[in-house]
Amino acid sequence: MSDPELGRFWQHRSKDSLQREKQLLIDFICSCAGGPLLYVGRDMKISHAGMQISEKDWSAFMGHLNKTLGALEVPQQERDDVVAFIDSTRNDIVEC
Ligand code: HEM
Repeated sequence: MSDPELGRFWQHRSKDSLQREKQLLIDFICSCAGGPLLYVGRDMKISHAGMQISEKDWSAFMGHLNKTLGALEVPQQERDDVVAFIDSTRNDIVEC
């Protein structure tokens, strides 16, 4: 959210909306990883449709993901699993 390249997606949103989105992101990933957890948010296509998220935005996002997994010293196997899962959502999220 603080990356100037991506920050525009979260401008002018209330603190509560940002917190809600963060929790839904956590829930979505936990639920897809087997939970058990009931994800009550919207699907990836519906929740990102119309934002015009580009390949360039996606690369910047994946860069942050990789840096974070590195900083947390996540082991390679888990790292590959997380990256593969997140990348599997790309077609639903990237629009241009
Ligand atoms: C460049 C990449 C991405 C950008 C710029 C982005 C941006 C956003 C924004 C601005 C929202 C709020 C939408 C709204 O409230 O109307 C949102 C919602 C959400 N995003 Fe993303 N997103 C990205 C990638 C992802 C990925 C990879 C995932 C999951 C693997 C994800 C999961 C979610 C979830 C769970 C929500 C909440 C859905 C709901 O409100 O029901 N996003 N995203």
